[in-house]
Amino acid sequence: MPHPPIKAVIPAAGLGTRFLPATKAMPKEMLPVVDKPAIQYVVEEAAQAGIDDILVIIGRNKNAISNHFDSVPELEEKLKDKGDTDRLRRVLESSDLADIHFVRQGEPKGLGHAVLRAKAHVGDSSFAVMLGDDLIDERDELLTTMIEEHRRTGAAVIALMEVPQTHIHLYGVASAEPTEHDGIVKVNGLVEKPSAEDAPSNLAIIGRYVLSPAVFDILERTEPGKGGEIQLTDALQELAADPDGPGVYGVVFRGRRYDTGDRVDYIKAIVQLAVDREDLGPDLRPWFKDFAANL
Ligand code: UTP
Repeated sequence: MPHPPIKAVIPAAGLGTRFLPATKAMPKEMLPVVDKPAIQYVVEEAAQAGIDDILVIIGRNKNAISNHFDSVPELEEKLKDKGDTDRLRRVLESSDLADIHFVRQGEPKGLGHAVLRAKAHVGDSSFAVMLGDDLIDERDELLTTMIEEHRRTGAAVIALMEVPQTHIHLYGVASAEPTEHDGIVKVNGLVEKPSAEDAPSNLAIIGRYVLSPAVFDILERTEPGKGGEIQLTDALQELAADPDGPGVYGVVFRGRRYDTGDRVDYIKAIVQLAVDREDLGPDLRPWFKDFAANL
């Protein structure tokens, strides 16, 4: 029997305080990474994994995101008249990627609260949560493996990455044990933003999750946790601790990931993606070498 389709939920309603003042009037998910807003990479990644129904959770400054995925007839006409087919193709791409829906999160009460806003749209199918400021390089596979693992186990599946001790306090962190499958771990517990001393491992949750709707019932009664926010990690901890449920599994990602909500990572993302591009790399590479040599 074919598997029921998976929808994607992209939370993009955070305040983006680390990027102020750039995010004063614009969501951080709209910051350009080379020549596309960060969130477009995430939508492309979902489409690449075969997902064609996407719900974006938006906050204040909502229009920037919805406008981006809408068609802009005047602009399209202008490019057509000028015969600029390459730019026209790229403009059309952003509105043709998937069926994109929007729902508001009235107040940014945390990632768990943002995900709960997707309950009505998701219904009773499984869904992927993809953070709108977290980019996975398209050359490195992750989401398809997570979806397969979810279908195999029926469990919640999270993406994990080894991070240095100095960064561990910025993440949800898993205590986990290996399974018979390479790169897949069984998660025994999760803790949101622990201190380095309290962290159960160096495996941090990165912004991809594949979940079943059971998580909504838990989120509905999840109290505010770290930072006074309703944390998705706390709801997942409950799933991991339930001896009668399918539990939580982690896919350990070893590829390229860029957290564009962090200024240093954002700059690294632009540099790495730009130097690898055929249209920009040849000009940039010698310039970077020269620049680095004089640092
Ligand atoms: P972050 O913690 O990275 O977002 O949330 P933030 O709060 O905007 O960041 P800073 O620390 O103030 O710079 C992870 C993801 O969850 C979304 C964010 O948009 C981001 O994609 N989020 C967070 C929501 O949609 N709603 C919330 O209430 C909180």
